[in-house]
Amino acid sequence: MTNESTNNRVGVGLHSIESASIDELRALQFERLKKTLNHAYTNSPAYKRKFDEAGVHPDDFNHLDDLRKFPFTTKQDLRDNYPFGFFAMPMDDIVRIHASSGTTGQPTVVGYTQEDIHTWADIVARSVYAAGGRKKDKVHISYGYGLFTGGLGAHYGAERLGCTVIPMSGGQTAKQVQLIRDFNPDIIMVTPSYMLNIADEIERQGIDPKSLALRCGIFGAEPWTDAMRSNIEQRLGIDAVDIYGLSEVMGPGVAQECIESKDGPTIWEDHFYPEIINPETGEIVEDGEPGELVFTSLTKQAMPIIRYRTRDLTSLLASTSRSMRRMDKITGRSDDMLIIRGVNVFPSQIEEQLLSIEGLSPHYLVEVAKMGHMDYLTVKVERSLDQQCNKEQAKLLESKIKSVIGISSKVVLLEPQTIARSEGKACRVTDLR
Ligand code: DLL
Repeated sequence: MTNESTNNRVGVGLHSIESASIDELRALQFERLKKTLNHAYTNSPAYKRKFDEAGVHPDDFNHLDDLRKFPFTTKQDLRDNYPFGFFAMPMDDIVRIHASSGTTGQPTVVGYTQEDIHTWADIVARSVYAAGGRKKDKVHISYGYGLFTGGLGAHYGAERLGCTVIPMSGGQTAKQVQLIRDFNPDIIMVTPSYMLNIADEIERQGIDPKSLALRCGIFGAEPWTDAMRSNIEQRLGIDAVDIYGLSEVMGPGVAQECIESKDGPTIWEDHFYPEIINPETGEIVEDGEPGELVFTSLTKQAMPIIRYRTRDLTSLLASTSRSMRRMDKITGRSDDMLIIRGVNVFPSQIEEQLLSIEGLSPHYLVEVAKMGHMDYLTVKVERSLDQQCNKEQAKLLESKIKSVIGISSKVVLLEPQTIARSEGKACRVTDLR
Protein backbone atom coordinates (compact mmCIF):
# COMPACT_ATOMS: atom_id res chain seq x y z
CA MET A 1 0.00 0.00 0.00
CA THR A 2 1.51 3.26 -1.05
CA ASN A 3 1.41 6.35 1.04
CA GLU A 4 1.01 9.32 -1.30
CA SER A 5 2.86 11.65 1.03
CA THR A 6 5.97 9.48 0.79
CA ASN A 7 5.24 8.89 -2.85
CA ASN A 8 5.18 11.72 -5.31
CA ARG A 9 3.61 14.78 -3.83
CA VAL A 10 2.40 16.94 -1.10
CA GLY A 11 0.44 19.66 -2.81
CA VAL A 12 2.48 19.50 -5.99
CA GLY A 13 0.43 17.95 -8.74
CA LEU A 14 -1.43 14.76 -9.43
CA HIS A 15 -0.57 11.31 -8.13
CA SER A 16 0.59 9.20 -11.10
CA ILE A 17 -2.44 6.88 -10.82
CA GLU A 18 -4.80 9.80 -11.50
CA SER A 19 -3.63 9.87 -15.10
CA ALA A 20 -2.76 6.17 -15.51
CA SER A 21 -4.05 4.12 -18.42
CA ILE A 22 -7.21 2.06 -17.91
CA ASP A 23 -5.13 -1.14 -18.22
CA GLU A 24 -2.82 -0.02 -15.45
CA LEU A 25 -5.76 0.94 -13.26
CA ARG A 26 -7.60 -2.36 -13.82
CA ALA A 27 -4.40 -4.32 -13.09
CA LEU A 28 -3.92 -2.44 -9.83
CA GLN A 29 -7.57 -2.97 -8.89
CA PHE A 30 -7.31 -6.69 -9.58
CA GLU A 31 -4.18 -7.06 -7.47
CA ARG A 32 -5.65 -5.03 -4.59
CA LEU A 33 -9.04 -6.78 -4.74
CA LYS A 34 -7.39 -10.18 -4.55
CA LYS A 35 -5.43 -9.05 -1.51
CA THR A 36 -8.51 -7.53 0.13
CA LEU A 37 -10.67 -10.64 -0.39
CA ASN A 38 -7.94 -12.81 1.15
CA HIS A 39 -7.44 -10.40 4.03
CA ALA A 40 -11.20 -10.25 4.77
CA TYR A 41 -11.62 -14.04 4.57
CA THR A 42 -8.58 -14.83 6.70
CA ASN A 43 -8.90 -12.16 9.36
CA SER A 44 -12.58 -11.22 9.71
CA PRO A 45 -14.75 -14.03 11.12
CA ALA A 46 -17.85 -12.22 9.84
CA TYR A 47 -16.53 -12.33 6.24
CA LYS A 48 -15.36 -15.93 6.55
CA ARG A 49 -18.89 -16.88 7.57
CA LYS A 50 -20.48 -14.85 4.76
CA PHE A 51 -18.17 -16.25 2.05
CA ASP A 52 -18.59 -19.81 3.35
CA GLU A 53 -22.38 -19.47 3.39
CA ALA A 54 -22.30 -18.18 -0.19
CA GLY A 55 -19.96 -21.02 -1.21
CA VAL A 56 -17.20 -18.72 -2.47
CA HIS A 57 -13.52 -18.51 -1.65
CA PRO A 58 -10.96 -15.78 -2.49
CA ASP A 59 -9.34 -18.36 -4.83
CA ASP A 60 -12.46 -18.04 -7.03
CA PHE A 61 -11.41 -14.49 -7.84
CA ASN A 62 -9.37 -14.71 -11.04
CA HIS A 63 -10.73 -11.76 -12.98
CA LEU A 64 -12.36 -8.42 -12.02
CA ASP A 65 -15.72 -9.79 -13.20
CA ASP A 66 -15.47 -12.56 -10.60
CA LEU A 67 -16.27 -10.02 -7.90
CA ARG A 68 -19.95 -10.56 -8.68
CA LYS A 69 -19.70 -14.07 -7.21
CA PHE A 70 -19.12 -12.60 -3.75
CA PRO A 71 -21.99 -11.69 -1.40
CA PHE A 72 -23.08 -8.11 -0.71
CA THR A 73 -22.52 -6.51 2.67
CA THR A 74 -25.40 -4.46 4.09
CA LYS A 75 -25.85 -2.02 6.94
CA GLN A 76 -27.81 -4.79 8.68
CA ASP A 77 -24.73 -7.08 8.51
CA LEU A 78 -22.72 -4.38 10.29
CA ARG A 79 -25.47 -3.92 12.89
CA ASP A 80 -25.70 -7.67 13.47
CA ASN A 81 -22.00 -7.70 14.26
CA TYR A 82 -22.09 -4.57 16.46
CA PRO A 83 -19.75 -3.13 17.52
CA PHE A 84 -16.46 -4.62 16.28
CA GLY A 85 -17.44 -7.90 14.58
CA PHE A 86 -16.26 -6.85 11.11
CA PHE A 87 -12.79 -5.75 12.20
CA ALA A 88 -10.04 -7.71 10.48
CA MET A 89 -7.15 -6.51 12.66
CA PRO A 90 -6.50 -7.01 16.37
CA MET A 91 -7.87 -4.24 18.59
CA ASP A 92 -4.29 -3.37 19.42
CA ASP A 93 -3.80 -2.10 15.87
CA ILE A 94 -6.98 0.00 15.76
CA VAL A 95 -6.14 3.66 16.37
CA ARG A 96 -9.52 5.28 15.64
CA ILE A 97 -13.23 4.50 15.78
CA HIS A 98 -15.99 6.41 13.98
CA ALA A 99 -19.71 5.69 14.00
CA SER A 100 -22.71 6.88 12.04
CA SER A 101 -25.84 7.30 14.08
CA GLY A 102 -28.42 6.51 11.43
CA THR A 103 -32.08 7.04 12.07
CA THR A 104 -32.79 3.81 13.89
CA GLY A 105 -31.12 2.85 17.16
CA GLN A 106 -27.81 1.09 16.84
CA PRO A 107 -24.93 3.04 15.29
CA THR A 108 -22.73 1.55 12.59
CA VAL A 109 -19.17 1.34 13.87
CA VAL A 110 -16.01 1.54 11.77
CA GLY A 111 -12.35 1.22 12.73
CA TYR A 112 -9.03 2.40 11.26
CA THR A 113 -5.40 1.35 11.65
CA GLN A 114 -2.64 3.96 11.54
CA GLU A 115 -2.05 3.00 7.91
CA ASP A 116 -5.78 3.47 7.16
CA ILE A 117 -5.66 6.96 8.66
CA HIS A 118 -2.65 7.74 6.42
CA THR A 119 -4.43 6.40 3.34
CA TRP A 120 -7.58 8.38 4.14
CA ALA A 121 -5.61 11.61 4.68
CA ASP A 122 -3.88 11.05 1.31
CA ILE A 123 -7.20 10.55 -0.46
CA VAL A 124 -8.80 13.62 1.11
CA ALA A 125 -5.64 15.64 0.29
CA ARG A 126 -6.08 14.45 -3.29
CA SER A 127 -9.74 15.51 -3.14
CA VAL A 128 -8.97 19.00 -1.84
CA TYR A 129 -6.32 19.29 -4.57
CA ALA A 130 -8.91 18.27 -7.21
CA ALA A 131 -11.18 21.00 -5.83
CA GLY A 132 -8.40 23.49 -6.58
CA GLY A 133 -6.94 23.60 -3.05
CA ARG A 134 -3.21 24.16 -2.69
CA LYS A 135 -0.68 24.20 0.14
CA LYS A 136 -0.94 27.96 0.51
CA ASP A 137 -4.70 27.84 1.20
CA LYS A 138 -6.52 28.26 4.49
CA VAL A 139 -9.32 25.73 4.90
CA HIS A 140 -12.27 26.38 7.22
CA ILE A 141 -13.90 23.10 8.25
CA SER A 142 -17.52 23.23 9.42
CA TYR A 143 -18.25 19.51 9.14
CA GLY A 144 -18.88 18.19 12.64
CA TYR A 145 -15.88 16.78 14.52
CA GLY A 146 -16.50 13.65 16.56
CA LEU A 147 -17.92 10.25 15.71
CA PHE A 148 -19.10 11.65 12.34
CA THR A 149 -16.29 11.19 9.79
CA GLY A 150 -16.79 14.63 8.16
CA GLY A 151 -14.75 16.88 10.44
CA LEU A 152 -11.72 14.72 11.20
CA GLY A 153 -11.64 13.23 7.69
CA ALA A 154 -11.56 16.68 6.06
CA HIS A 155 -9.11 17.92 8.68
CA TYR A 156 -6.44 15.27 8.19
CA GLY A 157 -6.68 15.58 4.40
CA ALA A 158 -6.40 19.37 4.25
CA GLU A 159 -3.53 19.23 6.72
CA ARG A 160 -1.82 16.50 4.67
CA LEU A 161 -1.99 18.78 1.63
CA GLY A 162 -0.15 21.35 3.71
CA CYS A 163 -3.05 23.80 4.05
CA THR A 164 -3.71 25.89 7.15
CA VAL A 165 -6.69 24.21 8.77
CA ILE A 166 -9.32 26.03 10.84
CA PRO A 167 -11.10 23.22 12.74
CA MET A 168 -14.33 25.09 13.49
CA SER A 169 -16.68 22.04 13.45
CA GLY A 170 -20.47 22.53 13.13
CA GLY A 171 -22.66 24.96 15.06
CA GLN A 172 -22.09 28.42 16.59
CA THR A 173 -23.12 30.04 13.35
CA ALA A 174 -22.33 33.62 14.38
CA LYS A 175 -18.82 32.53 15.35
CA GLN A 176 -18.41 30.70 12.03
CA VAL A 177 -19.01 34.03 10.30
CA GLN A 178 -16.64 35.90 12.60
CA LEU A 179 -13.83 33.46 11.84
CA ILE A 180 -14.53 33.49 8.10
CA ARG A 181 -14.43 37.30 8.18
CA ASP A 182 -11.31 37.56 10.36
CA PHE A 183 -9.19 34.58 9.21
CA ASN A 184 -9.97 34.92 5.48
CA PRO A 185 -10.13 31.21 4.58
CA ASP A 186 -9.85 30.39 0.86
CA ILE A 187 -11.87 27.18 1.09
CA ILE A 188 -14.80 26.03 3.22
CA MET A 189 -15.74 22.37 3.77
CA VAL A 190 -19.33 22.03 4.99
CA THR A 191 -22.69 20.47 4.15
CA PRO A 192 -24.47 22.53 1.48
CA SER A 193 -27.46 23.05 3.79
CA TYR A 194 -25.27 24.44 6.57
CA MET A 195 -23.55 26.67 4.00
CA LEU A 196 -26.96 28.24 3.30
CA ASN A 197 -27.42 28.80 7.01
CA ILE A 198 -23.96 30.43 7.30
CA ALA A 199 -24.73 32.57 4.22
CA ASP A 200 -27.92 33.84 5.91
CA GLU A 201 -25.88 34.80 8.98
CA ILE A 202 -23.25 36.54 6.82
CA GLU A 203 -26.01 38.67 5.30
CA ARG A 204 -27.70 39.21 8.66
CA GLN A 205 -24.45 40.71 9.91
CA GLY A 206 -24.56 43.14 6.99
CA ILE A 207 -21.59 41.57 5.18
CA ASP A 208 -21.61 41.17 1.42
CA PRO A 209 -20.79 37.44 1.00
CA LYS A 210 -18.92 38.21 -2.21
CA SER A 211 -16.53 40.51 -0.34
CA LEU A 212 -15.13 37.56 1.66
CA ALA A 213 -11.88 35.79 0.73
CA LEU A 214 -13.65 32.43 0.18
CA ARG A 215 -12.91 31.04 -3.27
CA CYS A 216 -14.30 27.52 -3.14
CA GLY A 217 -16.70 25.33 -1.15
CA ILE A 218 -16.28 21.54 -0.91
CA PHE A 219 -19.81 20.39 -0.18
CA GLY A 220 -21.12 16.93 0.62
CA ALA A 221 -22.55 14.50 3.18
CA GLU A 222 -26.07 15.02 1.79
CA PRO A 223 -27.72 15.18 -1.63
CA TRP A 224 -27.70 18.56 -3.39
CA THR A 225 -28.69 19.52 -6.90
CA ASP A 226 -26.99 21.49 -9.67
CA ALA A 227 -29.68 24.14 -9.08
CA MET A 228 -28.40 24.42 -5.50
CA ARG A 229 -24.83 24.67 -6.86
CA SER A 230 -25.77 27.70 -9.00
CA ASN A 231 -27.66 29.27 -6.11
CA ILE A 232 -24.67 28.97 -3.73
CA GLU A 233 -22.11 30.00 -6.36
CA GLN A 234 -24.01 33.15 -7.30
CA ARG A 235 -24.83 34.14 -3.77
CA LEU A 236 -21.31 33.70 -2.40
CA GLY A 237 -19.24 34.28 -5.52
CA ILE A 238 -17.38 30.97 -5.09
CA ASP A 239 -16.92 27.67 -6.92
CA ALA A 240 -19.00 24.89 -5.38
CA VAL A 241 -17.79 21.29 -5.83
CA ASP A 242 -19.14 17.97 -4.63
CA ILE A 243 -17.39 15.57 -2.24
CA TYR A 244 -18.89 12.15 -1.62
CA GLY A 245 -18.21 9.48 0.95
CA LEU A 246 -19.66 7.29 3.64
CA SER A 247 -18.30 6.04 6.92
CA GLU A 248 -18.72 2.33 6.14
CA VAL A 249 -16.39 2.72 3.14
CA MET A 250 -13.97 5.30 4.65
CA GLY A 251 -15.59 8.71 5.20
CA PRO A 252 -15.44 11.83 3.01
CA GLY A 253 -13.20 11.54 -0.06
CA VAL A 254 -14.39 8.30 -1.66
CA ALA A 255 -15.10 10.52 -4.68
CA GLN A 256 -14.46 14.17 -5.47
CA GLU A 257 -15.60 16.48 -8.19
CA CYS A 258 -12.76 18.17 -10.11
CA ILE A 259 -13.03 21.94 -10.27
CA GLU A 260 -12.04 22.15 -13.93
CA SER A 261 -14.99 20.05 -15.13
CA LYS A 262 -17.62 20.21 -12.32
CA ASP A 263 -19.27 17.17 -13.85
CA GLY A 264 -19.84 14.86 -10.90
CA PRO A 265 -17.41 13.31 -8.43
CA THR A 266 -14.48 11.25 -9.75
CA ILE A 267 -14.32 7.98 -7.81
CA TRP A 268 -10.82 7.30 -6.46
CA GLU A 269 -10.89 3.90 -8.08
CA ASP A 270 -7.41 2.89 -6.92
CA HIS A 271 -8.90 2.66 -3.39
CA PHE A 272 -12.60 1.93 -3.96
CA TYR A 273 -14.05 -0.38 -6.59
CA PRO A 274 -17.52 0.75 -7.69
CA GLU A 275 -20.40 -1.27 -9.12
CA ILE A 276 -23.96 -0.23 -9.89
CA ILE A 277 -26.67 -2.79 -9.32
CA ASN A 278 -30.37 -3.02 -9.86
CA PRO A 279 -31.56 -2.54 -6.25
CA GLU A 280 -34.37 -5.05 -6.68
CA THR A 281 -32.52 -7.93 -8.33
CA GLY A 282 -28.91 -7.28 -7.27
CA GLU A 283 -27.82 -7.70 -10.91
CA ILE A 284 -24.98 -5.46 -12.12
CA VAL A 285 -26.07 -2.84 -14.65
CA GLU A 286 -23.98 -1.26 -17.41
CA ASP A 287 -22.05 1.98 -16.87
CA GLY A 288 -24.39 4.89 -17.57
CA GLU A 289 -27.44 3.01 -16.29
CA PRO A 290 -29.01 4.19 -13.02
CA GLY A 291 -29.04 1.97 -9.95
CA GLU A 292 -27.63 1.49 -6.46
CA LEU A 293 -23.96 2.22 -5.84
CA VAL A 294 -21.93 -0.64 -4.35
CA PHE A 295 -18.34 -0.29 -3.12
CA THR A 296 -15.49 -2.67 -2.31
CA SER A 297 -12.50 -1.20 -0.51
CA LEU A 298 -9.12 -1.97 -2.08
CA THR A 299 -6.62 -0.82 0.54
CA LYS A 300 -8.37 -0.84 3.92
CA GLN A 301 -6.81 -2.84 6.72
CA ALA A 302 -8.94 -2.50 9.87
CA MET A 303 -12.26 -3.02 8.19
CA PRO A 304 -12.15 -4.14 4.59
CA ILE A 305 -15.62 -3.83 3.07
CA ILE A 306 -16.79 -6.15 0.32
CA ARG A 307 -19.59 -5.10 -2.06
CA TYR A 308 -21.19 -2.70 0.40
CA ARG A 309 -24.70 -1.66 -0.62
CA THR A 310 -24.71 2.11 -0.10
CA ARG A 311 -28.44 2.59 -0.91
CA ASP A 312 -27.32 5.68 -2.86
CA LEU A 313 -28.84 5.96 -6.31
CA THR A 314 -26.67 7.17 -9.18
CA SER A 315 -24.89 5.93 -12.31
CA LEU A 316 -21.24 5.46 -13.30
CA LEU A 317 -20.01 7.92 -15.92
CA ALA A 318 -16.99 7.85 -18.22
CA SER A 319 -13.80 9.50 -16.99
CA THR A 320 -13.08 13.14 -17.90
CA SER A 321 -10.58 15.13 -15.81
CA ARG A 322 -8.89 12.01 -14.40
CA SER A 323 -8.52 8.47 -15.73
CA MET A 324 -11.04 7.15 -13.21
CA ARG A 325 -14.79 6.95 -13.66
CA ARG A 326 -17.17 9.52 -12.23
CA MET A 327 -20.50 9.12 -10.50
CA ASP A 328 -23.52 11.19 -11.33
CA LYS A 329 -24.94 13.42 -8.61
CA ILE A 330 -26.81 11.24 -6.11
CA THR A 331 -30.54 11.46 -6.82
CA GLY A 332 -31.29 10.25 -3.32
CA ARG A 333 -31.04 7.18 -1.15
CA SER A 334 -33.33 4.30 -1.95
CA ASP A 335 -34.61 4.59 1.63
CA ASP A 336 -35.36 8.34 1.16
CA MET A 337 -37.55 7.75 -1.84
CA LEU A 338 -41.13 8.80 -1.19
CA ILE A 339 -43.85 6.88 -2.95
CA ILE A 340 -46.73 9.32 -3.28
CA ARG A 341 -49.85 7.95 -4.95
CA GLY A 342 -47.65 5.40 -6.64
CA VAL A 343 -45.20 7.98 -8.00
CA ASN A 344 -41.55 7.75 -6.88
CA VAL A 345 -40.44 11.16 -5.64
CA PHE A 346 -37.07 12.33 -4.34
CA PRO A 347 -36.75 15.60 -2.40
CA SER A 348 -33.95 16.57 -4.83
CA GLN A 349 -36.49 16.68 -7.69
CA ILE A 350 -38.58 19.18 -5.73
CA GLU A 351 -35.45 21.19 -4.88
CA GLU A 352 -34.60 21.45 -8.56
CA GLN A 353 -38.04 22.83 -9.39
CA LEU A 354 -38.28 25.36 -6.59
CA LEU A 355 -34.84 26.76 -7.30
CA SER A 356 -35.87 27.39 -10.88
CA ILE A 357 -38.38 29.99 -9.63
CA GLU A 358 -37.19 33.53 -9.04
CA GLY A 359 -37.94 34.73 -5.52
CA LEU A 360 -38.02 31.34 -3.76
CA SER A 361 -35.24 30.43 -1.33
CA PRO A 362 -33.47 27.04 -1.02
CA HIS A 363 -35.03 26.57 2.44
CA TYR A 364 -37.84 24.06 2.11
CA LEU A 365 -39.66 21.17 3.75
CA VAL A 366 -41.49 18.30 2.13
CA GLU A 367 -44.44 16.84 4.04
CA VAL A 368 -46.45 13.79 3.09
CA ALA A 369 -49.68 12.93 4.90
CA LYS A 370 -52.57 10.56 4.39
CA MET A 371 -56.21 11.60 4.39
CA GLY A 372 -58.49 8.63 3.98
CA HIS A 373 -56.74 6.48 1.42
CA MET A 374 -55.11 9.41 -0.37
CA ASP A 375 -51.53 10.70 -0.01
CA TYR A 376 -51.08 14.46 0.11
CA LEU A 377 -47.84 16.27 -0.64
CA THR A 378 -47.21 19.69 0.88
CA VAL A 379 -44.10 21.71 0.01
CA LYS A 380 -43.29 24.53 2.40
CA VAL A 381 -40.77 27.01 1.06
CA GLU A 382 -39.46 30.34 2.30
CA ARG A 383 -39.48 33.33 0.00
CA SER A 384 -36.10 34.99 -0.59
CA LEU A 385 -35.26 37.87 1.74
CA ASP A 386 -35.53 40.51 -0.96
CA GLN A 387 -38.85 39.32 -2.42
CA GLN A 388 -42.49 39.62 -1.43
CA CYS A 389 -44.56 36.42 -1.30
CA ASN A 390 -47.08 36.18 -4.05
CA LYS A 391 -49.55 33.53 -4.99
CA GLU A 392 -48.13 33.33 -8.50
CA GLN A 393 -44.91 31.67 -7.28
CA ALA A 394 -46.84 29.05 -5.30
CA LYS A 395 -49.06 28.30 -8.30
CA LEU A 396 -46.04 28.11 -10.59
CA LEU A 397 -44.24 25.64 -8.32
CA GLU A 398 -47.39 23.50 -8.01
CA SER A 399 -47.69 23.36 -11.77
CA LYS A 400 -43.98 22.53 -12.25
CA ILE A 401 -44.20 19.70 -9.68
CA LYS A 402 -47.27 18.40 -11.49
CA SER A 403 -45.83 18.58 -14.99
CA VAL A 404 -42.24 17.48 -14.29
CA ILE A 405 -42.62 15.03 -11.40
CA GLY A 406 -46.21 14.05 -12.11
CA ILE A 407 -47.85 14.68 -8.79
CA SER A 408 -50.31 17.21 -7.36
CA SER A 409 -49.11 19.20 -4.39
CA LYS A 410 -49.95 22.14 -2.20
CA VAL A 411 -47.23 24.78 -1.97
CA VAL A 412 -47.15 26.97 1.12
CA LEU A 413 -44.98 30.10 0.96
CA LEU A 414 -43.37 31.09 4.24
CA GLU A 415 -41.67 34.19 5.54
CA PRO A 416 -37.83 34.11 5.68
CA GLN A 417 -36.23 32.39 8.70
CA THR A 418 -39.31 30.35 9.59
CA ILE A 419 -37.91 26.91 8.71
CA ALA A 420 -35.44 25.40 11.21
CA ARG A 421 -31.87 25.60 9.91
CA SER A 422 -29.42 22.70 9.71
CA GLU A 423 -26.00 22.70 11.33
CA GLY A 424 -25.00 19.49 9.58
CA LYS A 425 -27.08 17.19 7.39
CA ALA A 426 -30.45 18.74 6.56
CA CYS A 427 -33.66 16.92 7.44
CA ARG A 428 -36.17 18.10 4.88
CA VAL A 429 -38.77 15.34 4.76
CA THR A 430 -41.60 14.55 7.16
CA ASP A 431 -43.63 11.50 6.28
CA LEU A 432 -46.73 11.50 8.45
CA ARG A 433 -48.30 8.41 6.87
O1 DLL B 1 -21.57 11.81 5.22
C1 DLL B 1 -19.22 11.29 4.93
C2 DLL B 1 -19.00 12.65 4.35
C3 DLL B 1 -18.64 13.69 5.18
C4 DLL B 1 -19.09 12.84 2.99
C5 DLL B 1 -18.41 14.92 4.64
C6 DLL B 1 -18.83 14.08 2.44
C7 DLL B 1 -18.49 15.13 3.26
P1 DLL B 1 -22.11 9.18 6.54
O2 DLL B 1 -22.54 10.02 7.70
O3 DLL B 1 -21.78 7.76 6.78
O4 DLL B 1 -20.80 9.77 5.91
O5 DLL B 1 -23.23 9.33 5.45
C8 DLL B 1 -23.05 8.75 4.19
O6 DLL B 1 -24.36 10.50 3.13
O7 DLL B 1 -24.37 7.18 1.84
C9 DLL B 1 -24.99 9.44 1.12
O8 DLL B 1 -26.33 9.03 1.29
C10 DLL B 1 -24.81 10.78 1.80
N1 DLL B 1 -23.79 11.56 1.10
C11 DLL B 1 -22.49 11.73 1.42
N2 DLL B 1 -21.89 12.56 0.50
C12 DLL B 1 -22.85 12.90 -0.41
C13 DLL B 1 -22.87 13.70 -1.58
C14 DLL B 1 -20.65 11.02 5.36
N3 DLL B 1 -21.81 14.37 -2.00
C15 DLL B 1 -24.24 9.09 3.30
N4 DLL B 1 -24.04 13.77 -2.27
C16 DLL B 1 -24.05 8.55 1.91
C17 DLL B 1 -25.14 13.12 -1.86
C18 DLL B 1 -24.05 12.25 -0.03
N5 DLL B 1 -25.18 12.36 -0.75
